[in-house]
Amino acid sequence: NPIKAPELDKCGVATNLNTGAMLDINCCPPMSQDIIDYQLPPVVHMKVRPSAHRVSPEYIFKYNMAIDRMKRLPKDDPRNFMQQANIHCAYCNGAYDQPGQGTLDLQVHNSWLFFPFHRWYLYFYERILGKLIGDPTFALPFWNWDNPKGMTIPPMFLDPKSALYDSKRNQDNLKAVLDLGMTRNKDPLQVVSNNLTIMYTEMVRGNASVYDFMGKPYREGDKVNPGPGSAERGSHTAIHVFVGDPREPSGEDLGNFYSAGRDPLFYSHHANVDRMWTLWQYFLPNNKVPEKTITDPDFLNTSFLFYDENAQLVRVTVKDCVDNLRMGYDLERIDLPWLDYRP
Ligand code: C2O
Repeated sequence: NPIKAPELDKCGVATNLNTGAMLDINCCPPMSQDIIDYQLPPVVHMKVRPSAHRVSPEYIFKYNMAIDRMKRLPKDDPRNFMQQANIHCAYCNGAYDQPGQGTLDLQVHNSWLFFPFHRWYLYFYERILGKLIGDPTFALPFWNWDNPKGMTIPPMFLDPKSALYDSKRNQDNLKAVLDLGMTRNKDPLQVVSNNLTIMYTEMVRGNASVYDFMGKPYREGDKVNPGPGSAERGSHTAIHVFVGDPREPSGEDLGNFYSAGRDPLFYSHHANVDRMWTLWQYFLPNNKVPEKTITDPDFLNTSFLFYDENAQLVRVTVKDCVDNLRMGYDLERIDLPWLDYRP
């Protein structure tokens, strides 16, 4: 059977998975008894998520204003920036158990729930930002780390005066070329070429079935972490580690599940992870895997809870998120140079 949405009134203590210690922060969301089954609204104007390295100063201004407003919302408003960050902590650090399964933890990483959970998470985050600036067309920028032009932290996140800034990042990597293979090679050209080879392997060559890309099945009653898909295990994790701050006890912010969402860069990182799912489904001509979407009902009927842009608690299902266009957003078209990096 599919895993059911967590029960908020049973949300408990979270654990730092890097150390095994209990976390002294409460990452549970505000309670509400009023849950609505979410219906995707009709798409009036398609949003287009832009590549973060290519956006205009006007866009950066708007995005910064939206995040600033999110940070200024009352602390107990589920749309507040820290509350949004805590969503990741609650779903990823053992604060929730699987309903009806005793104390069995619920975990959205290292399985086929990885892409759908993060897609819904970003979906509401983006709608909240749009609402806060009165712009329903607002679309999150994706950190285009699969393209050589995007293989550094996007500059808009580096301005200490901006709401997009976070001081807890690896200071040696603020302007460094991303190293997806964690090679520590000092030659940026070699690192870029190695990154492209890694992308090709994750997106095309290494995948013999849809589960190799999406992650392994995770059903009601299953133990956590059945196995990540290729992109989750590889580039996705490498970037968390690349940005996380080694001066902090546990790689905070981006290098640890409980704190990752506190860095605004997290949402642009994941917007590109999400883009990899769309590319995999619709844009890889030489992908030989016959099945591009998981059709197992246990996958499609898994549900999660989120607060929407009106602070209404909603229940969403995986089946409503498998097509990004139905959710109302498209992606700026950027070349995929890694398609030519067959090792
Ligand atoms: Cu929920 Cu990049 O992790």
